[in-house]
Amino acid sequence: MADTRDEPLVLGIETSCDETGVGIVRGTTLLADAVASSVDEHARFGGVVPEVASRAHLEAMVPTIDRALKEAGVSAKDLDGIAVTAGPGLAGALLVGVSAAKAYAYALGKPLYGVNHLASHICVDQLEHGPLPEPTMALLVSGGHSSLLLSSDITSDVRPLGATIDDAAGEAFDKIARVLDLGFPGGPVIDRYAREGDPQAIAFPRGLTGPRDPAYDFSFSGLKTAVARWIEARRAAGEEVPVRDVAASFQEAVVDVLTRKAVRACRDEGVDHLMIGGGVAANSRLRALAQERCEAAGIRLRVPRPKLCTDNGAMVAALGAEMVGRNRAASSWDLSADSSLPVTDPHVPGEEQPHTHDHVHEISKENLYS
Ligand code: KG4
Ligand code: ZN
Repeated sequence: MADTRDEPLVLGIETSCDETGVGIVRGTTLLADAVASSVDEHARFGGVVPEVASRAHLEAMVPTIDRALKEAGVSAKDLDGIAVTAGPGLAGALLVGVSAAKAYAYALGKPLYGVNHLASHICVDQLEHGPLPEPTMALLVSGGHSSLLLSSDITSDVRPLGATIDDAAGEAFDKIARVLDLGFPGGPVIDRYAREGDPQAIAFPRGLTGPRDPAYDFSFSGLKTAVARWIEARRAAGEEVPVRDVAASFQEAVVDVLTRKAVRACRDEGVDHLMIGGGVAANSRLRALAQERCEAAGIRLRVPRPKLCTDNGAMVAALGAEMVGRNRAASSWDLSADSSLPVTDPHVPGEEQPHTHDHVHEISKENLYS
């Protein structure tokens, strides 16, 4: 194994939604990935409740950081930097992570890197498949976003080619699961039911695939309405709803469009690597169809394992380590959470390098993690 001791050791904090994630990486090597999720607290509401998520982050923050440091077997004083999701995401939830990252960075005298959640979802694949090819096409599909992004350098250049014009892909899974009374989150359970259903049973619409439609944008709200109407009509007629066939046919409509557009973007842009990230990338049919279509088109597919696809701190640490490795400017102490941080900003550099305060550093050494 290569000697990785000289590579940047970075702790990453992720709190953009309902997962409190703390990861530690050295370069592209994953050392710890601690996650505390508040998903159960949101289940009865059928979606994430921002205030509940923020409070859960606050409670989980310090214990999750401690757990990650223990798991990695490193001391906080050896870190080369602290990275944190600065956006996009839920404002209050982000704020908890940003405040914690600032407190730790300041107390320990380490540089702070506010990074972009979407760029982190792409960068995490380095922990599984090694350095990202440049350029890489990325299809990011989760409960909050569905985008096609082209990146020639994940620390400085992320170009959006297309995005959803209404619902995110994961949101569609969650809504259809609710209509079918399958609970929240909907993705994993629909994936499971779909395995026993017929994906050709019902011909649901493929959004934005007409000849005049934008090539890389997505739309799932028409599909969602079509599926809901189909189910209602069955129920109104007193007929049983074939849950497995509905799940399989709905899922097929989503993954058909996602993979078709992603492969087309690769071809049009002359890119021979596609990475798929975000929670929906855990979907078994999406992985299989993407593999099939990429192979047919001569494209190398990279999809991280499901645990790295859903929100986690390792992805933030991975991008932070890349920022340190490429000497990108650290963020300043006035870094703020930006719920709509543009995808074109992989990180939030400060005007000047943050300076550390010696007395604070001393306190931290003596009292915190010596
Ligand atoms: O990336 P993520 O953990 O959080 C966001 O940033 O949104 O993604 C969560 C989303 C949820 O909508 C969930 O239903 C979906 O990812 N998801 C799946 C699967 N596992 C999670 N969707 C389809 N199939 C799955 N197996
Ligand atoms: Zn995400």
